[in-house]
Amino acid sequence: MSGQANSSVTINLDGTNKSLTLPLLAGSIGPAVADIRKLYGNLGIFTYDPGYGETASCESKITYIDGDQGVLLYRGYPIEELAEHATFIEVAYLLLNGNLPNRAELAEFDQGVRRHTMLHEQLRRFFEGFRRDAHPMAVLCGVVGALSAFYHDSLDITNPEHRRISAFRLIAKVPTITAWAYKYAIGQPFVYPNNDLSYAENFLYMMNAVPAEPFKGSPVLSRAMDRILTLHADHEQNASTSTVRLAGSTGANPFACIAAGIASLWGPAHGGANEAVLKMLGEIGTVKAIPDFIARVKDRNSNVRLMGFGHRVYKNYDPRAKIMQRTCHEVLDELGIEDDPLLDLATELERIALQDDYFVSHKLYPNVDFYSGIILKAMGFPTSMFTALFAVARTVGWVSQWKEMIEDPLQRIGRPRQLYTGPLLRHYQPLEQRV
Ligand code: ACO
Repeated sequence: MSGQANSSVTINLDGTNKSLTLPLLAGSIGPAVADIRKLYGNLGIFTYDPGYGETASCESKITYIDGDQGVLLYRGYPIEELAEHATFIEVAYLLLNGNLPNRAELAEFDQGVRRHTMLHEQLRRFFEGFRRDAHPMAVLCGVVGALSAFYHDSLDITNPEHRRISAFRLIAKVPTITAWAYKYAIGQPFVYPNNDLSYAENFLYMMNAVPAEPFKGSPVLSRAMDRILTLHADHEQNASTSTVRLAGSTGANPFACIAAGIASLWGPAHGGANEAVLKMLGEIGTVKAIPDFIARVKDRNSNVRLMGFGHRVYKNYDPRAKIMQRTCHEVLDELGIEDDPLLDLATELERIALQDDYFVSHKLYPNVDFYSGIILKAMGFPTSMFTALFAVARTVGWVSQWKEMIEDPLQRIGRPRQLYTGPLLRHYQPLEQRV
C-alpha cells in the first residue's frame, strides 16, 4: 500500500477563493504522486494529460522503471541479474506471485504451465479460417480472444482458482498459438508441444520442428530465447498493459483482456518497433547512407523516426538494449555468422546517433527493439513474427498486472475524462432546412 508523503500540493483556483490541498502519496521508490481524486468534487476541474505521461493510473508492486537512470526492476530485482541468472519460468513466477520461487514452488509452477500447453483440438480449425498471408498478430488477436469460447470453466474472475488456471492457460498456450500461426503461414503441419522441454525450448521446437526430420535444438539459442522472453516480460503501465487493465476493469474475462493487449502491442510505436527497425535498416542499406538517413530523421517535415530509439520513460540507455546487444553477439557466434551487415549497420547507426546533438538533446537512446530484430532474424524468425514473439513474452506481464488489478480493493472501472472542445448545444434541423 502507498504511504502518505510528508508533503502536499495546494491548488488555488485563480479568480475564486477556492483552494484544495492534495495529499502526496509516496511509493517505495520513485516520485511521489499527487492524489487528485477529490479535485473535481472540490474545485470542479479535471486534469489534462494526453498520453497519460504524468498520470499514475494505478498502484502496482510489480515493475519499477527509473527512466533517467536506465533502471528496470521486476519485483525489486534488477533486470540484468534476472537476465543473467534466472530462467523465464522463474521470472514468470516472480512477476505473478511477488517472490522468487523455492525449488518446490518452481517445480510445481513449471509443471502447471507445462500441462496447459496444448490447445483444444477444435481450435485448429480457427487457423484454417485465416488467409495464409494473414499477419501473425491478426491470428493471435483472434485465437487468443477465442480462448474464452473454449475455457468456460475458468472465466469467473471473482474466483481465485479460476484466475490461477486462466493465468496458466494463457502463459502456456500463447506460445503454441504463436508457433501455429507461423506454421500455418508457411504451410507446414502444426507441431504439438513437447512438455519434456523448457518453455523456450518448446517454443523453438514448435516453431522449427517438422514431422519428417528429427529436431535438434541448440542450448545457446534456447538460452537466448529464454533471455529475450525475460527482457520483454513486463514493463509497468505501457500502452498494451494499460489496455489490458482498462479492458479488465470492466470485468471482462482474462482471455478477452489479453487479446486487447495483443491488439495494442501491434502498433509500430510499441511492439511493432522491432519489425520496423529491420525495415528501416533494409531501407538505409549501407553504412554510407547513414548520414543521409539521420538528416531525414532530423528534418521536422519528414515524419521519419529512427526506429528502436527513444522511449516515453527511458531518457537514458534502455537497460534491456545493452543485454540485447550482448545476446546478439552470442547468437551470431553460435550461428557462425562472423560478419552480419545488419549488425554492422545498426552498430554504426547507434554510434553516429549517440554523438549527434539532435539525439543527445532529445535524450534518445536505443530501446530494447533496436537489437532484438537482428537476433530474431539471425535465429530464422521472419520479420512478421517479431511482434508476435514479443506478445509471447509480455503475456506473463499482462496476466500479472491483470491479476493484481482484480485483487486490488480500490479497483474501479477505468474511465478517463476529457477536455471537450466540440460544438455547444444545438438543435436538430430537418434535412430540408439545412444549407
Ligand atoms: N526518432 C527521432 N525523433 C524522435 C524519436 C525517434 N525515434 N523519438 C522521439 N523523437 C523526438 C520527437 O520528434 C519529439 O521531438 P520534438 O520535441 O523536437 O518535437 C521528441 O523526440 C519527443 O517525442 P514524442 O513522440 O513526444 O515522445 P513519446 O514519449 O511520445 O514517444 C516513442 C516515445 C513512441 C517510443 C518514440 O520515441 C518513438 O516513436 N520511437 C520509435 C519507435 C520505437 O522504437 N518504439 C519502441 C518503444 S519501446 C517498446 O515499445 C518496447
